[in-house]
Amino acid sequence: SLGTAPTPPRHSFDKISAQHISALKQIVGGDANCFTDATSLAAYNADWTGRYRGSSQLALRPPTPRAVADALKYCTQHGLAVVPQGGNTGLVGGGVPVYDEVVISTAALNAVESVDADSGCVVAGAGVVLQALDEELAKHNLMVPLDLGAKGSCHIGGNVSTNAGGLRYLRYGSLHGSVLGLEVALADGTLLDLLSTCRKDNTGYDLKQLFIGAEGTLGIVTRVALQAAPRPSSVQAAWIGIQTFEDVRRALRLARRHLGETLSAFEFVDRASLDVVLEGQHASMRLHDPLPDNPTPFHALVEVSGSNEAHDTEKLEHFLEAASEEGIAVDGTVASGGRQLAELWAIREGISEALARRGAPVYKYDVSIPLSCWYDIVTDMRARLSEAGYNDSSGVRVVGYGHMGDANMHLNISSLEVDDRIGNLIEPWVYEWVSSRGGSISAEHGLGQMKASAIGYSKHPEAVRLMAQIKDVLDPSGTLNPYKVLPSS
Ligand code: FAD
Ligand code: MLT
Ligand code: ZN
Repeated sequence: SLGTAPTPPRHSFDKISAQHISALKQIVGGDANCFTDATSLAAYNADWTGRYRGSSQLALRPPTPRAVADALKYCTQHGLAVVPQGGNTGLVGGGVPVYDEVVISTAALNAVESVDADSGCVVAGAGVVLQALDEELAKHNLMVPLDLGAKGSCHIGGNVSTNAGGLRYLRYGSLHGSVLGLEVALADGTLLDLLSTCRKDNTGYDLKQLFIGAEGTLGIVTRVALQAAPRPSSVQAAWIGIQTFEDVRRALRLARRHLGETLSAFEFVDRASLDVVLEGQHASMRLHDPLPDNPTPFHALVEVSGSNEAHDTEKLEHFLEAASEEGIAVDGTVASGGRQLAELWAIREGISEALARRGAPVYKYDVSIPLSCWYDIVTDMRARLSEAGYNDSSGVRVVGYGHMGDANMHLNISSLEVDDRIGNLIEPWVYEWVSSRGGSISAEHGLGQMKASAIGYSKHPEAVRLMAQIKDVLDPSGTLNPYKVLPSS
């Protein structure tokens, strides 16, 4: 792989044999759910970033939760390793094999099973695509309290397993709050029913929480019960141009004060991110600089949503007036629903893809940092790489964007060609930088294989030891997603 951390040696798992394939094929219901040909396997072995590639010889799509559990049991009993895979949009190499692990995909568990219009509780198979789930909920004037650029491909089970954050976390909070229950297949073949649909349930340890964000190392999530949110009838946004980072912080404070309960997103886009999107466009959707007359170094996408359009409009207008009067916003534009709003979001959500198309696999860092020094990581990284000769003219771009309302910075470094020296300049410097400021080296993407050996920058040794003990209780053979999340011993 082109991973930035050294790949740990293969553990002594068994190798897949014709006998294993035929037994597992039977468990998952035959040829239609079992893939051994090179063309099908290529997609299961390659990750979204182009940085990680495995060499699995077998991918399974069990049609039922029971079949997931039975396949897992077989693998554990026969010393085979497994990698759970959802929509394969993860950004830390967690969902693809490192070596020849058997891929267990949740793609066939794709039914929305029930929607309770009174409570807002939805029960769905782990393989339901996030956008499809949201479209189903829209029929009941509900929405998934989670939205992200990968919504057209990622699965709700994958979202739960990465504890995905996304674009509206500031309003709806973490999946640790909105997941009501889970069904999970364990390594020994137990199908653990934690599928409570109760909003309140204080009966013993809250076991489901262990699987939220466990990145497939403790079990395979097969069904999810989720508290949906009321779907807002009015959604509006402003794109504002700002001259200094200090003023972006003032803008966030002002937005919180003026917009209160209607604030549903506060996203940050720096000039370099915007440039990458505008330069790297496909013909399908032409995006334009929202503020062509006043190019500024920083931008915020501020969204309000609620149930009363006039009320929300008035709030947004007051916020913009104050931002202008206080000298915070140099320029701004407002979009109320429709195409204009979609275009603003397309710019923000298009950054990852534009970066991915630019050249070599991108160096992606997803960190939490206090807002007092939030953007410093971008300027410090730029200075560090520039000193070594890596700058705009050598095709290297250091960009910063992200969920500023949650202090979640996405620092990305893009180069036109693969050059290991860049990686060596970035790591471990970037982890030390974040750790010394009390931040987190993974705000929302998880650790996967990219950061398994770096967990110590954000967690104390006692905590990592306890995690390893929990892993040992649930998966003593280490069947599930080896080489991921925890450092390999
Ligand atoms: P996969 O990539 O298939 O798997 C991710 C991890 O979960 C792997 O470790 C895998 O083994 C495990 N896993 C998957 N399904 C299961 C299961 N059923 N049971 C147990 N383990 C499982 N993330 C954010 O947090 N916020 C964002 O805003 C965001 N935006 C993104 C935008 C783009 C364009 C892309 C490509 C990714 C983005 N992501 C974001 C990354 C994010 O982690 C994923 O998009 C999503 O949550 C992963 O879901 P998936 O179904 O694709 O999982
Ligand atoms: C985002 O916020 O756009 C996603 O987390 C993806 C990324 O970091 O590129
Ligand atoms: Zn993000």
